[in-house]
Amino acid sequence: MSPPITSSVPALKALRGRDLLSCADLSAEETLALLQLAGELRSGARRVDLHGQLLGLIFTKASTRTRVSFSVAMARLGGQTLDLNPAVTQVGRGEPIADTARVLSRYVDALAIRTFAQQDLSDYAHWASIPVINALTDLEHPCQALADFLTLQDAFGSLDGLCLAYVGDGNNVAHSLLLCGALLGVSVRIASPAGFEPDSAVLEQARALAAGRCSLELTTDPVAGVRGAHALYTDVWASMGQEQEQRQREEAFAGFCLDEALLAAADPRAIVLHCLPAHRGEEISAGVIDGPASRVFDQAENRLHAQQALLAALLGGL
Ligand code: CP
Ligand code: NVA
Repeated sequence: MSPPITSSVPALKALRGRDLLSCADLSAEETLALLQLAGELRSGARRVDLHGQLLGLIFTKASTRTRVSFSVAMARLGGQTLDLNPAVTQVGRGEPIADTARVLSRYVDALAIRTFAQQDLSDYAHWASIPVINALTDLEHPCQALADFLTLQDAFGSLDGLCLAYVGDGNNVAHSLLLCGALLGVSVRIASPAGFEPDSAVLEQARALAAGRCSLELTTDPVAGVRGAHALYTDVWASMGQEQEQRQREEAFAGFCLDEALLAAADPRAIVLHCLPAHRGEEISAGVIDGPASRVFDQAENRLHAQQALLAALLGGL
């Protein structure tokens, strides 16, 4: 007898053929259904077969977790990935996105794209006739956020009444946490130095999505930001493409290291998250990232489960 199907199939079926460019492309119901499906795929309660479908990976920036977890997710779903590295395709020689997207749509079933400008990703999605997935842009990292909230749900059993505090740069990861938190009703506080806050348009969009169900707040005081929070999260101070600002950012972010003192100000049950790669001694202390509150390797593993759920839904495997 096949195992009982518990995840919300109508919400997941509605995702077939869609793009994921931003966390805001999903409804609250779809996001929750994806987290549930991820848990079911992880436990073996659900199996999905994509019958050899192909995911193309266009990665203009470096990646360990995203690239490998997408490849493993497709393999586990009975599909395959093709590495369309811009350095070895005509993409790197400036072939227009409009042409590349239309050609690749004739060969593969979905594209996962890591690039700089969100507009380039939107252009791929506009011209492609297949699902396009944001594998990180300068604006957002939605696949990361799905894994992050899955990890939070795993730790507390439910997302109800939780508060996540992010300490550091108001970057792509922070934006997706704000939007996904808003959808899921999880309060999010972002503590950043002045001048490094998240984009005000993203914050406004997140507040509209939250519709008063949770609070989304900014502060320049890291201690106030983490007080009583259930999860403390940080990311690098200089993202990919900002390497030349590293020294200047190290000065600006002094006092924003997620260390033992900040952890002590959080809820006693608080977990620690980091999307990785991490710089011990910069944005996070070695004692905190390698200490008992850290869930960073569960979080990295959950990239695989969350993306398996996403691919199953977008590629019509349900
Ligand atoms: N967290 C994350 O996206 O890692 P990679 O850059 O290694 O893919
Ligand atoms: N904010 C980081 C995330 C890396 C996964 C970056 O964009 O480089």
